[in-house]
Amino acid sequence: MSNQLKYVLDETQIPKFWYNLTADLPVPLPLVLHPGTKQPAGPADLEPLFPMALIEQEVTSEREIEIPEPIRDVYRMWRPSPLYRARRLEQALGTPAKIYYKNEGVSPAGSHKPNTAVPQAWYNKEAGIQRLSTETGAGQWGASLAFAGALFGIDVTVFQVRVSYDQKPYRRALMETYGARCIASPSDQTDSGRAMLALNPTSPGSLGMAISEAVEIAAKDPAVKYALGSVLNHVMLHQTVIGQEAIKQFEMAGDDPDVVIGCTGGGSNFAGIAFPFLGLQLRGGRKRRIIAVEPASCPTLTRGTYAYDFGDTAHLTPLMKMHTLGSTFMPPATHSGGLRYHGMAPMVSHVHELGLIEARAYHQKACFDAGVQFARCEGIVPAPESTHAVRCAIDEALRCKAEGKAETILFNLSGHGHFDMGAYINYFEGRMIDQNYDEGALATALSELPAVAA
Ligand SMILES: Cc1ncc(COP(=O)(O)O)c(C=O)c1O
Repeated sequence: MSNQLKYVLDETQIPKFWYNLTADLPVPLPLVLHPGTKQPAGPADLEPLFPMALIEQEVTSEREIEIPEPIRDVYRMWRPSPLYRARRLEQALGTPAKIYYKNEGVSPAGSHKPNTAVPQAWYNKEAGIQRLSTETGAGQWGASLAFAGALFGIDVTVFQVRVSYDQKPYRRALMETYGARCIASPSDQTDSGRAMLALNPTSPGSLGMAISEAVEIAAKDPAVKYALGSVLNHVMLHQTVIGQEAIKQFEMAGDDPDVVIGCTGGGSNFAGIAFPFLGLQLRGGRKRRIIAVEPASCPTLTRGTYAYDFGDTAHLTPLMKMHTLGSTFMPPATHSGGLRYHGMAPMVSHVHELGLIEARAYHQKACFDAGVQFARCEGIVPAPESTHAVRCAIDEALRCKAEGKAETILFNLSGHGHFDMGAYINYFEGRMIDQNYDEGALATALSELPAVAA
């Protein structure tokens, strides 16, 4: 069909393996270090926080990790997700480019996050764990883990960044509907939260702070494990179902992307769409442009330093080599809570350092311009985080128009924005501002990076 709009795989075509980019990397990933000794961290160091099956996935260099059948069975609730051709957007832009997007907003929780929440909950269940603690920025990850916890009978406690807890009561209600307990962070429930409140009683919170609280709960109670919605290798791994499906869908479409785009908070939806394509390239296939898009107010890849740093504010996590703005850096509050993180996935940082991907930063108003234009053509209201990928895709399509090139552009629509309409109201009422981060605060945070022998 020449004017086909969507490419849909059937349930039997849900990937049977997660793809591990580590196997194809030309240079191995730097090791993770113990926060105290600064020596390489072993599986035993991670055991208080994660079940052994996930720790093994964190360190393995096997190319393919089999997806257990009970997880594929849950994936069937929304996977394979559709690949769309954005023909109406192409027309509106008057571009010769072909724009495709993978719609991860079709999951029950509304984003790509259940792709890893479900396996994380399942492996914990298999290990006999009944309680999980986690953090959430925009509420998308917390809702996803709450959903997965409901399926497998696991109690979930979510530390929600204060600013999003206040701005997004419906996202909190969604988590509670799935049965999770939701606490605004910083809170008085943990030592790290109390210390942060003592410094600033009206702190808007940050992902780094909420991670400290969730990690502390798990580290202190052997009955509780911790789950992280991004950054770690096993999270990148789980998200590769996105790109693997997209490769099959492009075969159906008889097309192949020249440019692959994803927004980046901790890096997981970007890795999910990009790594399977990057793997093809590293195994001898064609080279594509792969672009990570981040907020200009929290520009981890484009402005951060590539160094060992903590994943959280209270310095409870292992040290990871990544692009970082410094773990004490407090990014300005924006409507893209899920992109407001000081660090970046070590795997995404590594491929950026190797020159295998590009990075770009946008301010939020330009992203909402793109999100609204996309909604008016394609009908789907993107999550604020996802509007960053939409902005970049539109800019690439306009570049193609200027250059008279019919390139094929693929972006990941990581989630829908139905719980973010408050942000859209701000945008329409002219109350949205583009905030710059404080250069002085960034310099201070970077000067506080932990000293690690080269
Ligand atoms: C819809 C959506 N997109 C993107 C992100 C950013 O996370 P990541 O970079 O791990 O995909 C989030 C995080 O909460 C999100 O909710």
